[in-house]
Amino acid sequence: MIINVKAKSSAPAKIILFGEHFVVYGNPCILSSIKKRMQVNVSINNTDKIRILSDLGNSEYSVNDIFLSNEFVTDPIVKCISSVFSTRKKSLGLDITISSEFPVGMGLGSSAACCVATTAAIDSLFGEIKPEWICEQAIEAERIIHKNSSGADCVISTYGGIIYYSKGSGFDRIYLKQSFPILVIETGIIHSTRFMIEKFKRFRDNNLSLFNEFLLKSRLICNQAIEALTLGKLCEIGYLFNENHGLLKEAGVSHMLVDKLISYCLKSGVYGAKMTGAGGGGSVIAVADQLVIEQLHKSLYQMGFNSIISECDLNGLLITNDSNILR
Ligand code: PMV
Repeated sequence: MIINVKAKSSAPAKIILFGEHFVVYGNPCILSSIKKRMQVNVSINNTDKIRILSDLGNSEYSVNDIFLSNEFVTDPIVKCISSVFSTRKKSLGLDITISSEFPVGMGLGSSAACCVATTAAIDSLFGEIKPEWICEQAIEAERIIHKNSSGADCVISTYGGIIYYSKGSGFDRIYLKQSFPILVIETGIIHSTRFMIEKFKRFRDNNLSLFNEFLLKSRLICNQAIEALTLGKLCEIGYLFNENHGLLKEAGVSHMLVDKLISYCLKSGVYGAKMTGAGGGGSVIAVADQLVIEQLHKSLYQMGFNSIISECDLNGLLITNDSNILR
């Protein structure tokens, strides 16, 4: 069997353009990957240790612990490693380095990108990878922390582009006639996706008929957005952002700072703005003409807020392998 000595993979960050939270209840959502990546480097270290170095801290496990613990793991990265080891029927000492070009806990899909890129890098040591399998394992691993997640983040991080996604029925690609800029503004407030999913569920449980009304509205917004995105109708996209945000705010998953930033964006001349991802902080996205976006980017910087003028990344998961050896 040929085993690669090392492998490198990367998976993109994402923004949810429409339909977050409602997607957990079977509704569609629309996501776009953006040109910021999670990079994972893996190399065989000829020990019985798995050593993980990441921006968030370092950890070390024995290979046997990982191989035996598939059922009981609490760390999604360990789950990714053990899924590969048990499927490939191989276990090896590894050095894994994870580094991110985008912040964690800002609604940009860091945990999904991390699970996708880590599973892919390790699996690619043992042969050709199957993106569908990588994505399934990443979803399972992410569910350790996010429990009832829809899987949308892992799907966009694996396949890239802009997609219309529903849990259970997969995704369709949306192709733009012309690309347009979206400003992604970080509130700096780190959220817990799991906590926000639970908060949204409480809103649902306590307001079932209103919730069902919102489900219908959110679905309609997603369906109207397909044409607006394809044809680059920025004014309509902005209107739909505002409508979508209204639903999420009423469901209690926005945040005071998110709403303040949205008001500031609207006063600055954007067509529309909304929270993106789980909410409770995280990031805000805004759509506007290029000039407005650039001015807003500068003025937000002066106010102490990081923002990214995002472009869609069509690539999804990328793998590079070198140095084959025979074992
Ligand atoms: O974790 P985030 O902030 O990227 O958002 C997850 C998106 C949700 O719709 C809130 C949950 C899900 O599983 O789809």
